[in-house]
Amino acid sequence: MRKPMMAGNWKMNKTIDEAVELATAIRDQVADEESVDRVLCPTFVCLPAVRAVLDGGSIGLGAQNMHWAESGAYTGEISPAMLEGLVEYVIIGHSERRQYFAETDETVNKKIKAALAHGLIPIVCVGESLEQNQAGETQSFVSGQVKAALAGLTGDQVQSLIIAYEPIWAIGTGLAATAKQAQEICGSVVRAAIAADFGQDVAENTRVLYGGSTKDKNIREIMQQPDIDGALIGGAALQPDNYSAMVRITAEVYG
Ligand code: 13P
Repeated sequence: MRKPMMAGNWKMNKTIDEAVELATAIRDQVADEESVDRVLCPTFVCLPAVRAVLDGGSIGLGAQNMHWAESGAYTGEISPAMLEGLVEYVIIGHSERRQYFAETDETVNKKIKAALAHGLIPIVCVGESLEQNQAGETQSFVSGQVKAALAGLTGDQVQSLIIAYEPIWAIGTGLAATAKQAQEICGSVVRAAIAADFGQDVAENTRVLYGGSTKDKNIREIMQQPDIDGALIGGAALQPDNYSAMVRITAEVYG
């Protein structure tokens, strides 16, 4: 049985003081919802302060990106060694990083391997653009992204990580994929691509999240889908009441 996850990607939002306030408000509402993995992903500069808010509890912490190298002349970058011991999770290959910061399937694959080598759990993002969607290319594109991201990993490594299917057209637009559409891609494309390369058992054990305009009002139907194990949440994760409601609804659906 795959444990559900509600992961908040705070993106480039919140100062350190604001992040502490947000994390505290969330902690106070969902500290005891242990049937759902709750993960907060603030910006790098906020990680130590949010870590202090979460210490001693069961809410996880994640970074939004990292470099693959141990250290070196990469101005402005953060290495996996710097995140080890500070966070449990790291988002890799978010579409905004692929789009604005030239990340490729190849760099995503390197980052995943580096994260795993440091005991960090990657949350690997895939998803098609509106143009690809309209051209009927969603299945082949997303399947290709999954296979390229996971190339060279072992089955054990694959089932330890998390894939987030985030159609770009649904991110920040208020136009979430329908639960049926999201189920179709998470199941027949993402999980099928894992099964093709690593076998059915690994595919069944790997958690697949949906992301893109999720909120308290639509999360129940999304979480009722058999191949969707959680959500990677943007805007609604910045609203403590909304995020906490999503966690509680997920606990109900799985209860
Ligand atoms: P929204 O929930 O704001 O659409 O963002 C989704 C996302 O990109 C999470 O990584």
